[in-house]
Amino acid sequence: MKFSFISGNVPTTAALVVTVYEDGELSPTAGAMDKACGGKILRAMENSRFKGKSGELLDILAPANLDNSRILLAGLGKKSALKVVDLENLGGRVYKELSGKGETEVCIAIDGLSAEGKDEAVLAAHVSHGALLRSYRFDTYKTNIKPESMPSLKAMTVHCASPENAQTTFEKLEKVAQGVLFTRQLVSEPPNRLYPESFAEQAKELEAMGVKVTVLGEAEMADLGMNALLAVGMGSARDSKVVIMEWNGAPESREQKPLAFVGKGVTFDTGGISLKPAAGMEDMKFDMGGAGTVYGLMKALAGRKAKVNVIGACGLAENMPSGNAQRPGDIVRSYSGKTIEVLNTDAEGRLVLADVLSYVQEKYKPRLIIDLATLTGAILVALGNDIAGIFSNSDDISSKLVTAGEAVDERVWRLPLADCYDKLIDSEAADMKNIGGRFAGSITAAQFLQRFIENGTPWVHIDIAGVAWSAKDKPISEKGATGFGVRLLERFVADNYEA
Ligand code: BES
Ligand code: ZN
Ligand code: ZN
Repeated sequence: MKFSFISGNVPTTAALVVTVYEDGELSPTAGAMDKACGGKILRAMENSRFKGKSGELLDILAPANLDNSRILLAGLGKKSALKVVDLENLGGRVYKELSGKGETEVCIAIDGLSAEGKDEAVLAAHVSHGALLRSYRFDTYKTNIKPESMPSLKAMTVHCASPENAQTTFEKLEKVAQGVLFTRQLVSEPPNRLYPESFAEQAKELEAMGVKVTVLGEAEMADLGMNALLAVGMGSARDSKVVIMEWNGAPESREQKPLAFVGKGVTFDTGGISLKPAAGMEDMKFDMGGAGTVYGLMKALAGRKAKVNVIGACGLAENMPSGNAQRPGDIVRSYSGKTIEVLNTDAEGRLVLADVLSYVQEKYKPRLIIDLATLTGAILVALGNDIAGIFSNSDDISSKLVTAGEAVDERVWRLPLADCYDKLIDSEAADMKNIGGRFAGSITAAQFLQRFIENGTPWVHIDIAGVAWSAKDKPISEKGATGFGVRLLERFVADNYEA
């Protein structure tokens, strides 16, 4: 889709979107259009249940005296409560609504708005950002889409004050959106197409943007002693990989230690010998979602040339049962030297992450490390599908993540770490076991990861098992892979770490 920004007269052709606040207050453009079409907008509002609430739309077709195909009223809710994400959601909803109605062009008039101290141009850019995010569909493997079910919208213009400023802001947001869409595509790919080797190959796409990409194969991992990660991939016919991506956007501060992001990239999780039930197992193609988010984040940061040094490191493996698979009861020596008794081969994500966490700390001495993983089913029990769980040894970084999450509407909630949970993973036979008891499953998983964090390196674990995939459409994402975490971490970096 083509995005542009204009000021001056609103177009009198194609579809026009104007905004209304919850008390029925029309935006200046909405008021002007109401006059132009003989009061039809107010009459339409009187004759419907449209109240201008946030998310409401009212479609007025073929308005009198005007050549516009339609005027779409968009509710923005209470003026005093307006947020930037409301504008993103507006863009997403308008895209969806008109794309299903055969419209090819739309102009959205943004005026008389302010939210979170941002000016109109910035808000206009966020409208387009929301529409771009909503426009992603996973249709790679559909060979027979009927023209009438293709999204019709081809061009979106946002009418605002200072369109040049809106364009400049949008150019950065567009890079962030491209990161999100990259993540969604990776997470949506089926597991016969996306496996460790092909997934590692996808990182090469980032080289053109200036990202340095290094891929470790099984031989190198074996030399390094990454036996916990290798154990997970033993049952698979596919080789495991580690992918390291480096973005040095602040070369003058090369001595400045990098931020490190680590992702769980289990391209398919059958559970291994501790096999999962058949029903719903197909969902486990998304078990590389943490790594997918790290890829998307690197793409977003490199795309907008972020002034920061960042490492993205992903452990990629396929968890399969076979004659070569690891067994419940196996004891493995991790890269750190710590030994792990594997009591359940389905608790594999923490094994993959353990070695990558140790390796990244040793090799890059990061100033902080954030891992992302679809780690536990228990996080769905605790927090459901809308808020991700975070676990951390740093109050400061946790609160920065909460703030960033609220700003971009990718919310996180901190859960505790404590010695009383840590002891639940003590093993009789090794340094630790890879499962705790029946309860507090997300916390014992996090405690396991924390055993691989050395010297108090500031660290956060984000369990995205509940949020990486959505069974429902949302204003800025179709059902399916959400790309959760890319916008969260992009904002976290932008607001706190950029030179
Ligand atoms: N990939 C799963 C976590 C998961 C489960 C994500 C369900 C989304 C939905 C992970 O590898 C896993 O299987 N975890 C086990 C851990 C258990 C064996 C301690 C789980 O959560 O059941
Ligand atoms: Zn598992
Ligand atoms: Zn898993």
